[in-house]
Amino acid sequence: MARYAIDYLREADLDAVHTIDTNSFSMPWSIDTYRQELRAPQLCRYVVARFLVADAVPSPTPPPTLRTRLLGMFGQPDRTTAPAAGTTIGYAGIMRTPTDGHITTLAVVPEHRRQGVGELLLLALIEQAYDLGVRRLALEVRATNTPAQTLYTKYGFVATHTVAEYYRDNCEAAVVMVIADISTIAFREQTKAHSDALYQRLVHKKTRT
Ligand SMILES: CC(C)(COP(=O)(O)OP(=O)(O)OC[C@H]1O[C@@H](n2cnc3c(N)ncnc32)[C@H](O)[C@@H]1OP(=O)(O)O)[C@@H](O)C(=O)NCCC(=O)NCCS
Repeated sequence: MARYAIDYLREADLDAVHTIDTNSFSMPWSIDTYRQELRAPQLCRYVVARFLVADAVPSPTPPPTLRTRLLGMFGQPDRTTAPAAGTTIGYAGIMRTPTDGHITTLAVVPEHRRQGVGELLLLALIEQAYDLGVRRLALEVRATNTPAQTLYTKYGFVATHTVAEYYRDNCEAAVVMVIADISTIAFREQTKAHSDALYQRLVHKKTRT
């Protein structure tokens, strides 16, 4: 069993997600907002990361594709099965718009940050983006949010412009970041390389150089 599992966000996760949301963002969403998003799976996909008590028993070789890896090694995001056991420690969402897949949220509890969980959630969103049939990914991030911008840049997002006074609470600017086309071979290869490295880190617990 892997140490972390990815699962679809379920009704039972909403209290935990709301707590993470409240602790991570100055303008958290209401639980009802998440509930509404859950009612439109053709447009919105939400995933959670769970921390499993039991430690990993790694497979000798990583599964061949990112999809099978996320499904098989990092948990099984399947709405028809029982939720993966464990504590909900992160969540992320994507919405299909007429022009792109818009990453709406991504957060990890402070105690589990810098372990690769943010990457795991982003990889799961990229899988959901393929499933939703989008090619372009976009998001807004606070201008001062260096950790998130660094994560997105690592995965190929490029800052295109800023929107002044985007955030109502403190009038902070948003940086708009985009991946123009996730269907390219180059993007798929880069994502697979990140996934391979994350696999080594999470499952085999290899330290990074
Ligand atoms: C942004 C966030 C989700 C990252 O989650 P995480 O689990 O800590 O991220 P990971 O451990 O997977 O890190 C992946 C990469 O992100 C970048 N990164 C993450 N935290 C970072 C930090 N504090 N400083 C610099 N880079 C950071 C690095 O590139 C890192 O890769 P590396 O480990 O090879 O250096 C987390 O900091 C968080 O929940 N922040 C509060 C909510 C938020 O701001 N969400 C984004 C909204 S747009």
